[in-house]
Amino acid sequence: MSILVLGGAGYIGSHTVYELIDAGEDVVIADNLETGHIEAVHPKARFYKGDIRDRAFVDCVFDNEKIDAVIHFAANSLVGESMVDPLKYYDNNVNGTKVLLQSMVAHGIDKIVFSSTAATYGEPEKIPIEETDKTEPTNTYGETKLSMEKMFKWTAKAHGLRFVSLRYFNACGAHKSGEIGEAHSPETHLIPLILQVPNNQREFISVFGDDYDTKDGTCIRDYIHVTDLAQAHILAVKYLMAGNESNIFNLGNGVGFTVQEVIETARKVTGHPIPAKIEGRRAGDPAQLVASSVKARTILGWNPEHADLEEIIASAWKWHKAHPHGYAK
Ligand code: UFG
Repeated sequence: MSILVLGGAGYIGSHTVYELIDAGEDVVIADNLETGHIEAVHPKARFYKGDIRDRAFVDCVFDNEKIDAVIHFAANSLVGESMVDPLKYYDNNVNGTKVLLQSMVAHGIDKIVFSSTAATYGEPEKIPIEETDKTEPTNTYGETKLSMEKMFKWTAKAHGLRFVSLRYFNACGAHKSGEIGEAHSPETHLIPLILQVPNNQREFISVFGDDYDTKDGTCIRDYIHVTDLAQAHILAVKYLMAGNESNIFNLGNGVGFTVQEVIETARKVTGHPIPAKIEGRRAGDPAQLVASSVKARTILGWNPEHADLEEIIASAWKWHKAHPHGYAK
C-alpha cells in the first residue's frame, strides 16, 4: 500500500516513516521543510517539497502517486507561538487542512490519519482523560487542532471520507538507529531542554512552577515514546483499510511523571548533576495531563513498548549527545 505522509520530515512524521518502511510499506513524503529537516527524510521514501496550502502542489502529488491513505502531520505545534501569532496557526493548520481535504475529495482519496493533541482538552475535568471528556482548549494551537478534527467530521459526513484522529500526550525519545530524533528550533520541550545541560549548552533547567497541586508541586505529564506513537499510526491506517468507522484515540502511557521526576531520571541516565532552578508558572500549563489509552489499546490493539521513562530518556540522550545541534552540521 502507498501512504502519503504530510510533514514526514518533522519529528513524529519522520519516525512514523521509518516504522512504515520497516513494515514494508511504500511511502511518499510531502513537507515544506519550514520546521522539518531534509536529513530526516528516509532515503527509501519519495519526497515532494511543497506546502499543503498550495492546492496545485497537493493536486500534483495525488496526480503523480497512487495513494491509498494519508497520514497528516503538517502543522505548526508550538503552544507559546500560537498565543502570540494565532493567525499563523489558523492559516497553516486549519486553512492547510481545508486545502488538503478539497484535493483529497477531488481525487477520491478517502482515508486519513491525523495528529491531534492533548491540548484539545484544555484544563482536564478528571485524570486520566478519556476521549469523551470535554474539549475546551486553553491555547490557539489546541483550538486549531480541534477545528481540524471537526473539519474532518463534517467532510466525512458529506463526502464519505473516513478519518482517525490521534490525540498525543507528550511525545519524546528518538529512533533506536540514532539516525533521527527531536530537533526543534526554538526548543521548548522539557526533555530536550534538560539534556542541553549535560550537553554543555545550558547551565541549568528552569522548572516552571512548584506550587501546583501535585505530589512535589511540579506539573505532571504523560510521556510517550515517539516510536510507540509511530506504531499507533500504522495501526490506525490498518484500522481504516479494514473498513472501520472514523474514530478518535488518545495516545499516552497512562502514567504521569512530575517535572522533578523527569529531571531526576535524566540525572540518573546521564550521570550529570543537572542543576534545576524553580521559576514562575508558564502561562496556560495545566497541572496534570495523563491519558486513558484504553480505547486505543482495545480497538486498535496498540501496546506501547517503551513505557519506561528511563528508557525513553536514554533514547533521547543517545540522539542529543551525538547531535548536539540537531541536524545542523
Ligand atoms: N517545563 C519546565 N521547564 C522547561 C520546559 C518545560 O518546567 O524548560 C515543564 C512545563 O511547564 C510542563 C512540562 O515541563 O509542565 C512539559 O512541558 P513541554 O513543553 O515539554 O510539553 P507540554 O506539556 O507543554 O506540551 C505538550 C506538547 C504540546 C501539546 C501539549 C498539550 O508538546 O504539543 O503537550 O498540552 F500541545
